[in-house]
Amino acid sequence: MTLRDERMGRDISRAVRILNDGGLVGLPTETVYGLAARADDRTAVAKVFDVKGRPRGHPLIVHVSSLERARAISGDWSDRAEALGARFWPGPLTLVVPRAPRIVDEVTGGLDTVAVRVPAHPMAQALLVHVEAGLVAPSANLFGKVSPTRPEHVLHDLGDAVDYVLDGGPCEIGVESTIVDCSSRIPQILRPGAITETDVLEVVDEIESASGPARAPGMMSSHYAPRCSVVNVESDVDAEPFRQRGVLVLDARRDPKTFVRDLYALLRRCDDEGREEVVVVLPDDRGIGRAVRDRLMKAAAPRP
Ligand code: TXA
Ligand code: MG
Repeated sequence: MTLRDERMGRDISRAVRILNDGGLVGLPTETVYGLAARADDRTAVAKVFDVKGRPRGHPLIVHVSSLERARAISGDWSDRAEALGARFWPGPLTLVVPRAPRIVDEVTGGLDTVAVRVPAHPMAQALLVHVEAGLVAPSANLFGKVSPTRPEHVLHDLGDAVDYVLDGGPCEIGVESTIVDCSSRIPQILRPGAITETDVLEVVDEIESASGPARAPGMMSSHYAPRCSVVNVESDVDAEPFRQRGVLVLDARRDPKTFVRDLYALLRRCDDEGREEVVVVLPDDRGIGRAVRDRLMKAAAPRP
């Protein structure tokens, strides 16, 4: 067994010990793998930013085990937040709410709001019950790159900087959580995900259109990007000429939900195979298709 294999397993107590000692743990969730540190440990939180190469101003999501604990990290828990949490947690939803005084500045980048989520993955749940303060967990990739959806992706990207990776198998959803800003009267979807606008509108009367000013820092255009270039085409474009040139064509049209589960692993494989280009036939802008389009547009955007 190599040293790397030794740092991957299913030992919850070991993960708790590492976190309590200020270490970093790869956290399986139903969306993507996170890089977890205790939310109340300033030094460990700072290490998360350093390891990812992430600017300090890009706030992190605090993961907790229950709705009850989510309430405790907010200074002003609204009826909207309560209704959304009660309906979709545990699950792929993040709520932005006014922060409680005990949330440290390192987590929120100095904002007066905090993002919170209760993940559904059984291994995340098993870990989080032991950490009352909650865990910050940005996606466990280098800043701007493709999120990890397998435990080995975490070790591949972060190497020795991660102390242990909980092996929760491949992620069930494959795309990051839907973020809903509940900090003002009319909620706004800041990042599309598996929980759709239609889902959210079952719970709240109104949502602010996405064309308003972006309320999430760090949602820049290039993101989720592999090394190879991503070329997106709409579903009415004939992709055959690309295939004939030997370019790999991924087709998200027919079943975007199944497609997105493997999307990041496929983009990573393109890099491993040394491909220069990958073409993706985009799904329609509805259901989870919106999240798939959002991530692929960002993967295709001009690189900084
Ligand atoms: O599915 C997910 O959400 C994954 C898993 C690991 O839970 N996590 C994840 O974290 O995607 P990250 O750090 O890669 O993305 C968090 C996003 C960032 O774009 C950040 O700007 C936004 O959440 N965010 C965090 N706190 C915020 C706040 N107070 N106000 C607005 N946006 C916030
Ligand atoms: Mg990320």
